[in-house]
Amino acid sequence: MKRKLRTNPPTLYYDEIKLRPLRYRDGSTWKKLRSTNKAWLREWDATLPPTDENYPATFSQMVWQGKRDARKKIHLMWGIEYKKKLIGIVTAGNITLGSSRNCYIGYWLSKSQAGQGIMPISVALVLDFIFQELKLHRVEIAIRPENTASLRVVEKLKLELEGVRRSYIHINGDWRDHQVFVVVEDEVTTSFLERLKN
Ligand SMILES: CC(C)(COP(=O)(O)OP(=O)(O)OC[C@H]1O[C@@H](n2cnc3c(N)ncnc32)[C@H](O)[C@@H]1OP(=O)(O)O)[C@@H](O)C(=O)NCCC(=O)NCCS
Repeated sequence: MKRKLRTNPPTLYYDEIKLRPLRYRDGSTWKKLRSTNKAWLREWDATLPPTDENYPATFSQMVWQGKRDARKKIHLMWGIEYKKKLIGIVTAGNITLGSSRNCYIGYWLSKSQAGQGIMPISVALVLDFIFQELKLHRVEIAIRPENTASLRVVEKLKLELEGVRRSYIHINGDWRDHQVFVVVEDEVTTSFLERLKN
């Protein structure tokens, strides 16, 4: 069934994993999650080059922008809940329609919940939504070559390495090379949740 996107992306479920839009009342949980995981995320978190001032300053602004961007269908952000607790984020960003129909996926979760296979399932849910409902043509995930945990996520999902983008994203204070993993719609023969099992 094709759902209409209004101000939020739809909620997606698998067992005890729930992907749902962020809410204004998540503010204090979010703050705690980010501060507890500051060191864990530092090496992989996007940062602002000195020339850019576009990031939302507060959590509320981020939620407001998230609703605006979901309505415009340009950026979808889900909070990841595991056993009813918010533990991370997965996004489908830079959604381009028209002759491109592509986007990227980004993600992180709390160190305390790593290693349980939560992110591969979360990304699978988002990929299934992107191909089955948004009907995009191409999705990419860019990962620093040093990020072995994240490389395992795309390996488990059997995404193909397209190549290296040099100096691609500003991370932890500098421009970093990234390996880019891609899937195009012609290659999608089963759901990504199925792919994970095989
Ligand atoms: C990358 C990340 C999303 C993986 O999510 P996850 O749900 O832990 O994924 P998995 O459970 O499939 O584990 C993937 C790999 O992480 C590593 N790992 C497992 N437990 C770990 C732990 N406690 N701490 C660190 N790494 C661990 C293992 O190499 C594992 O591979 P394996 O299953 O073959 O052993 C998560 O580690 C994370 O949020 N890291 C920080 C932010 C980040 O790197 N974001 C991605 C930017 S591209």
